[in-house]
Amino acid sequence: MNLRDVYCGEVKKAQIGELVTLNGWVQRRRDHGKLIFLDLRDRSGLIQVVFNFEHDSNMFKQAEEIRNEFVLAVKGKVVSRSPETVNRKLSTGEIEVLAEELIILNRAKTPPFYIEDGVDVDENIRLRYRYLDLRRPEMQKNLFLRHRVCKLVRDYLDREGFLEVETPMLTKSTPEGARDYLVPSRQNPGSFFALPQSPQLFKQLLMVAGMERYFQIARCFRDEDLRADRQPEFTQIDIELSFCDQEMVLELMEGMIAHVYAEALGEEIAVPFPRMAYQEAMERFGSDKPDTRFGLELNDLSAIVSSVDFKVFKQVLAGGGVVKGINAKGCGHFSRRELDELTAFVAQFEAKGLAYMFVEADGSIRSPIAKFFAAETLEQIVALMSGEPGDLLLFVADKREVAYQSLGALRLHLAERLGLPDKLRRNFLWVVDFPLLSFTEAEQRYTANHHPFTAPRDEDLEKLESEPQNVLAKAYDLILNGVEIGGGSLRIYKRGLQERLFKLLGFSQESAREQFGFLLDAFEYGTPPHGGIAFGLDRLVMLMTDMNSIRDVIAFPKTASAGCLMTAAPASVADSQLEELHIKLSLPQKK
Ligand code: AMO
Ligand code: AMP
Repeated sequence: MNLRDVYCGEVKKAQIGELVTLNGWVQRRRDHGKLIFLDLRDRSGLIQVVFNFEHDSNMFKQAEEIRNEFVLAVKGKVVSRSPETVNRKLSTGEIEVLAEELIILNRAKTPPFYIEDGVDVDENIRLRYRYLDLRRPEMQKNLFLRHRVCKLVRDYLDREGFLEVETPMLTKSTPEGARDYLVPSRQNPGSFFALPQSPQLFKQLLMVAGMERYFQIARCFRDEDLRADRQPEFTQIDIELSFCDQEMVLELMEGMIAHVYAEALGEEIAVPFPRMAYQEAMERFGSDKPDTRFGLELNDLSAIVSSVDFKVFKQVLAGGGVVKGINAKGCGHFSRRELDELTAFVAQFEAKGLAYMFVEADGSIRSPIAKFFAAETLEQIVALMSGEPGDLLLFVADKREVAYQSLGALRLHLAERLGLPDKLRRNFLWVVDFPLLSFTEAEQRYTANHHPFTAPRDEDLEKLESEPQNVLAKAYDLILNGVEIGGGSLRIYKRGLQERLFKLLGFSQESAREQFGFLLDAFEYGTPPHGGIAFGLDRLVMLMTDMNSIRDVIAFPKTASAGCLMTAAPASVADSQLEELHIKLSLPQKK
């Protein structure tokens, strides 16, 4: 038999009467006495193949042995199906192939789950047999799209004059806020490489090197707690350019996103994307990555309730906290139990309680705490929160961060429950004007919100030491439907300022020199102003494919405990390997 000449899903009606040679896997076999029908699948789709006993009894006997997932080569004639057997759901649903030759290229055990979309199977089984999981059309579609996105990104950036440059995997720690994955060095006993958390320092050094415009589809490694949109090993579309301002970066990136959506999904994305200051995002949405597809915004009631005689609010306000609320639209029917659930929900974010008020049919308020409020204060609250009959008003009084965090999360929780997020909408949003630093209570020190190489705004430079908390950064995040898909900044490019920043972050001169001396030195040899951004490729593709987890758009992802169920990595190594590396283990006692 000759080699395949057409993919299963691509045989056309116009080929009726022709002989074709197909390769693929058996999706399903149905026996009808002297006829066997089987669906043959390859990455393009399915086609029905028919074996007729009358036509070739030997081949028919061979076909009887075929089971799901056997690998076949079939040569046969394309014929039209009889009208009552046409399958409109299939691209090849009006035709079938009458087999004339058959080779069973390989046999298969019964797979642990059906190779089809929407199978109900534990994800651990899917991950253990990932090579079977990836045979499912849905997963193949995801990897196709991922490939398309990479190709479109490369085309766009190439056109805009960006050069793809690879940077080392075996390197020194890059501070992006997570733990490093370390690799011991055999040639330098006791020394370790760190796998890059991002190519941040190298891309800046490429700017010093005069590359002007760099990009890389780069693997990054972060040893952090995993979630649906976080993997220990993930991919960034990493970008840096010289002689730019913030507006130039944002515009170029809007162009890239629009290009990718137009070419990969045929969707027109409106640019420029809206921009929102960090402060406004926190005030209105309780989050620096607001999902703006629905309302349920936060209201600040601190001023209105400042003179109310309700102990909880009073104490919080006196202590410098805030009273924030959201109007759970149409949730006036919530039961006591449902309110308890919401209270427990906000408690996860350390909110000490959740006060509530029902707006009754006549516009009056029903609430255990109503008695503490003057009638006109209640009216003001209802007016500020646009309360209408049937609404449920919810309040958290607490430290600013706790109120934002808990209500921000409650907003998303309620929206999900009320079915508010419109899956078809793509709300891109730039969040800008981030504070440069955060104060970490536990460690009693400032940490960089983005990373230590982000430039402060020029007008805030003089406040750097005197009021660090009020310094804003030249940083920006790109949010899509409440998911942070990218983040970047303009960078510090002068040694003096970089040293001031390290000092603020608590680095001694020696430790700054030890860790980042090469960068500081480089800054003294003519560093151009530069800035950049990195997108989470996995997150972007997850949102483009409407998946709920980035695991579904990564060929071989890790589990929540950062392991690979298929290869059983990580694994122990031979003593001889450890000896060679001069490593002795001191393991915790097994329970
Ligand atoms: P940042 O740390 O914000 O910035 O990362 C950029 C983007 O990468 C994605 N991302 C992740 N995706 C999956 N799993 C993870 N564990 C994970 N961590 C981050 C997010 C995020 O927006 N060097 C800077 C960029 C710069 O300043 O140019 C950086 O790495 O979508
Ligand atoms: P208490 O006075 O503790 O019985 O609380 C009365 C109501 O106020 C209850 O519904 C509590 O859930 C709510 N509550 C308590 N603490 C807070 C708080 N910090 N913010 C908002 N509501 C609270």
